[in-house]
Amino acid sequence: MPRPIEALIHTDALAHNLTRARVRAPDARLWAVVKANAYGHGIERAFEGLRSADGFALLDLAEAERIRACGWRGPVLLLEGAFEARDLELCSRLHLWHVVHCSEQVDWLAAHKTHQPHRVFLKMNSGMNRLGFAAAPFRAAWARRSALPHVDEISLMTHFSDADGERGIAHQVAAFEAATHDLPGERSLANSAAILRHRLRSDWVRAGILSYGSAPDFPAHGIADWGLQPTMTLRSRLIATQSLQSGDSVGYGSSFRAGSPLRIGIVACGYADGYPRHCATGTPVLVNGVRTRTLGRVSMDMLAVDLSPTPEADIGSEVTLWGHGPHGTVLPIDEVAHAAGTIGYELMCALAARVPAHAVGA
Ligand SMILES: Cc1ncc(COP(=O)(O)O)c(C=O)c1O
Repeated sequence: MPRPIEALIHTDALAHNLTRARVRAPDARLWAVVKANAYGHGIERAFEGLRSADGFALLDLAEAERIRACGWRGPVLLLEGAFEARDLELCSRLHLWHVVHCSEQVDWLAAHKTHQPHRVFLKMNSGMNRLGFAAAPFRAAWARRSALPHVDEISLMTHFSDADGERGIAHQVAAFEAATHDLPGERSLANSAAILRHRLRSDWVRAGILSYGSAPDFPAHGIADWGLQPTMTLRSRLIATQSLQSGDSVGYGSSFRAGSPLRIGIVACGYADGYPRHCATGTPVLVNGVRTRTLGRVSMDMLAVDLSPTPEADIGSEVTLWGHGPHGTVLPIDEVAHAAGTIGYELMCALAARVPAHAVGA
């Protein structure tokens, strides 16, 4: 029998979450952002749930090929564009739209010989200072690119650094507007946090984390506030129980010590499965759908949980590390991420390859 750990990818929840993005941005077309192997969900597994999107946005050429192999004929956008000149050949062959964020990419495009029209998303650096042209070079790049015969359409794009937080987006929107107000072309500005928290003109919105059932602004808001559903469940089972006496410790480093007699369960899940080692005692977990807490340090293949709220639990009992539990229970990935001092994005992307994952529908 294999280890009892598994991941479930909920395609119905992916589809539901996309409808939430559409409600928030009713006039926009929707990119489903599927970089990083669909945020750890697996592109092929996630595809079924995300196929109502207007396009797929990603980074790797290999991932673009996988989306095409799923049968997707619509728009595919390379969010970082070409990494070298010859990448443009694949863009031509697979009809990929691509971001252009630096002058080298404009040079490659100018030298690219093709009869295939290219649709490009010219990226402005409006304050994130990661990728993109500053305002004046942005306009110069626009003029240079619009003169290329094989560039048939130029869209204008930027990315927000603080859409989930207090600083907000107004300063970046103002910088973008000032640089682009008189340029034609569709706009793509909003990521998940901007879709959920801000109203703005964005002909194309880029829905990443919200599609995967994680709130971009947790703990200010949780998925219930935004009407989102978990799309990834990590679940396992108890493989042992122990009865501790007062003063007994649990696991490496004896970081947890029982203050009174305590029954604990040992779960087949550890950091080699992608569960964060930084989760301290008290991280929420469900046993048979009942909320309890982890105890002591997470080890490579196991972790310990407090069985006080579930005295009936025994070897074989179901443990939900995040996602959907039995009887309609839910443990948002954001709560576990928060306990580990990180964000839902990192946990889902870090799901280990050794965990078998299956797509499930409604
Ligand atoms: C350029 C760009 N657009 C959109 C997204 C999606 O962001 P989120 O997952 O916060 O919606 C990302 C993700 O980092 C990105 O880099």
